[in-house]
Amino acid sequence: MAAVSKDATGAKKDDGASVKVVKDGPYLVCGGLPLAKDVIVADDDGSSVGWESKDEFPRRETYALCRCGRSKGAPFCDGTHAKVGFDGTETADHGKFNDRAEIIKGQDLSLSDDRSLCALARFCHNQKGNVWGLTEKSGDPTCKEEAIRQACNCPAGRMVEHDKRTGKPIEPELEPSIGLIEDPEKHVSGPIFLKGGVPLESSDGTLYEKRNRVTLCRCGASRNKPFCDGSHIGAGFDDGDDSLD
Ligand code: FES
Repeated sequence: MAAVSKDATGAKKDDGASVKVVKDGPYLVCGGLPLAKDVIVADDDGSSVGWESKDEFPRRETYALCRCGRSKGAPFCDGTHAKVGFDGTETADHGKFNDRAEIIKGQDLSLSDDRSLCALARFCHNQKGNVWGLTEKSGDPTCKEEAIRQACNCPAGRMVEHDKRTGKPIEPELEPSIGLIEDPEKHVSGPIFLKGGVPLESSDGTLYEKRNRVTLCRCGASRNKPFCDGSHIGAGFDDGDDSLD
């Protein structure tokens, strides 16, 4: 297996591991990245509150993950994209998160929020409040803790909390790996959760900004490809996982 190290931001990276977007085709995964299901856990009110990891797949050095949402061998590509004429044109901005994000300044925390990356995982609000209001009241330790928890649970990395005094981002420790999101509360399968700062290469050979948390569309319906934009919910995407039954 490739060695794990840390980059300058403290995010772990797996040297040699990468994901490449294939034009109108799948994601090519290299470097033996672990693959498992990540199920969103909801409370009695339907708010997303945590993750359950299950069904780890046997390790493979390289594999191709379906991007069109039509493979009969999901989560792996079976070539269906070519038969159905999948248009996987990448429409996402190649710029930096910090250049797109809106800043919400609170008492102890500062929140960066890039709505274009929202994957509708719904960790940003529950009975305790929403991440924006909790950030504003982050002088209160309880509000601060909950704001950090909500932002760090966002798989898309739409939201990043910062320590207002030092300016340092607050990120969860994530091993370089891939999760296949399932969302039983909405009865849908969700995006690919790419974790731990794994390089993501566009079909044109350029690199997207390396980030600790990224969600990649695997239903084929996103208008912000290769990233998820929450369209899988409206599309009723189901990869056949039995946790949705
Ligand atoms: S998986 Fe979320 S938009 Fe396709």
